[in-house]
Amino acid sequence: KSVGVGLAHGKAILLGEHTVVYGTPAIALPMAGLTVSAAARHGTRTAPRDDHIDATIEAAADAALRRRRAPAGIPHVEITCGIPLGRGLGSSAACATAAVRAVADLYDAYRESDALYDLVQHSERQVHGSASGVDARAVAADTPIWFEHGTARPLTFGRPAVFVVADTGVSGATGKAVACVREVLGADPARAERFLARARMLVCAAADAVVSGRLDVLGQRMLIFQDLLGELGVSTPAIDRLVAAALEAGAHGAKLTGGGLGGCVVALTGSADGVERLRAALREAGAVSTWTIAFGAGS
Ligand code: PMV
Repeated sequence: KSVGVGLAHGKAILLGEHTVVYGTPAIALPMAGLTVSAAARHGTRTAPRDDHIDATIEAAADAALRRRRAPAGIPHVEITCGIPLGRGLGSSAACATAAVRAVADLYDAYRESDALYDLVQHSERQVHGSASGVDARAVAADTPIWFEHGTARPLTFGRPAVFVVADTGVSGATGKAVACVREVLGADPARAERFLARARMLVCAAADAVVSGRLDVLGQRMLIFQDLLGELGVSTPAIDRLVAAALEAGAHGAKLTGGGLGGCVVALTGSADGVERLRAALREAGAVSTWTIAFGAGS
């Protein structure tokens, strides 16, 4: 085989970002419309790779090759990324996943999802040391997922739900945000423990609401989690403005998604009619882009 091909997609974290780094569960949604494709060819890399995505690709490809018994040189991996960078939508994990899948396809090896996940996690840890793995699982999953301790299982919405993801236009800073949360939680271990217990309860309640189709309850849990993320210091005035605008436009709930300190907001509506109103309100409040993702009973 002369070319290996790999695909992946973006994701939005519905609930549980940051606290997931400390072992609590998280729920993530695939964004199938934001795609990444990679093509791997035998041969040697050309120019030195020096940007964030190239470093991720290289780490993933190198790791794949280290696990091979008879490496045949480092493949050249070309990547086409349709996910905006640095917005908490999983671009780094999706690029690494597509690259690793392309290398696996080229060598006809490492196709098992756990082996691919390990390679992507190796790469993700170079981006920020304490990567929980939720991104690596979500960008490779075809369904919403429940994520806990490195493993993912599918979650099914009991009733159609439509989410609008809105970009503040400000680059997020996941590494900085993760460090900020570590400082807040580290300052008072007893409070941190209560905090993480609350986060776990919220994510569990949200998963029940997803499965039973109680979108109003899910929206409330999203809002409470947003308050929690605010307490952790990772929300911003631009995020708060988008959350407020979404609620005013009739959303069941809204919150930041991903690392925060910029990046995106995710808002929930139950009705197809509500979507356009919600998108317009988010744009009016400063969103530079919006995406709609829908899940129905059975998906
Ligand atoms: O990379 P982002 O911005 O989607 O954030 C990932 C989610 C965090 O919980 C903040 C970090 C992690 O490793 O889980």
